[in-house]
Amino acid sequence: MATIIDGKALAALVVEEVAKDVASFEKQYNIKPGLAVVLVGEDPASQVYVRNKVLRANESGLNSIERKLPADVDQATLNKVVDELNQDPAVHGILVQLPLPEHLDEEYIINAIAPEKDVDGFHPVNVGRLNSGQETLTPCTPLGCLIMLQRELGDLTGKNAVIIGRSNIVGKPMAALLLQQSCTVTIVHSRTRDIEEIVKQADIVVAAVGRSEMVKSHWIKPGAAVIDVGINAIEVDGKRKLVGDVDFADVEPVAGAITPVPGGVGPMTIACLMKNTLTAATQQLRK
Ligand code: GUN
Repeated sequence: MATIIDGKALAALVVEEVAKDVASFEKQYNIKPGLAVVLVGEDPASQVYVRNKVLRANESGLNSIERKLPADVDQATLNKVVDELNQDPAVHGILVQLPLPEHLDEEYIINAIAPEKDVDGFHPVNVGRLNSGQETLTPCTPLGCLIMLQRELGDLTGKNAVIIGRSNIVGKPMAALLLQQSCTVTIVHSRTRDIEEIVKQADIVVAAVGRSEMVKSHWIKPGAAVIDVGINAIEVDGKRKLVGDVDFADVEPVAGAITPVPGGVGPMTIACLMKNTLTAATQQLRK
């Protein structure tokens, strides 16, 4: 039986800690750290994420600014919104919720956010800093996964870590973070041969592919720590249900520790966004 890693409880602790540091920040600088969240369109999942981000920001004592734009907004208008937020001294962190509608250029917008306000850590400057071990803003989901792993396993030195998925948002930055912790890191993806045998060598498995319950018990080394980043909506008996990339019921008896979906990685991602906003504000004001 695996330890179930309670992401919700751990996220509450992280938010509590951030709230304390936000209070000291406010005393020192006489301003609250400000987080701007930009939402384009009415994608239901994005609306839920943004609502939770704003709620948690308020709980952390941050100043939250929500900018909602219609689905058919043109690129120039969106660029202008981002530019205004870049210039606004009350805004220390900017997040543009992804995915954007098809007609908008996601890469352009990621590049347009001032790197020092890029609390997602997606700007190429921050990606470069992360990969060269410099002080940076680290993508929230991998940062949340790392905090859970360190809490569960302690020092990660020498662990064999296998990441399933090579996205810019999770897979690649997760690899950089685990490498920094002196893990031996492998990324497997849709074109990898013998994926199951490779995953079976892992002390740490991070699944981030977006395929419902793909990872089964025979992929997992007994006792391994399994972090499930997937959030997939499926239908069971006509009812909508959220499942991860890991078949939880199958894998849980084999793993040493495992994150549930929901209640695992998701809350930690949002908590780390609060942490990053405070980090960004501190880096901007101490100059
Ligand atoms: N959409 C899904 N995950 C994320 C994320 O981490 N950041 C942003 N901006 N959009 C997302």
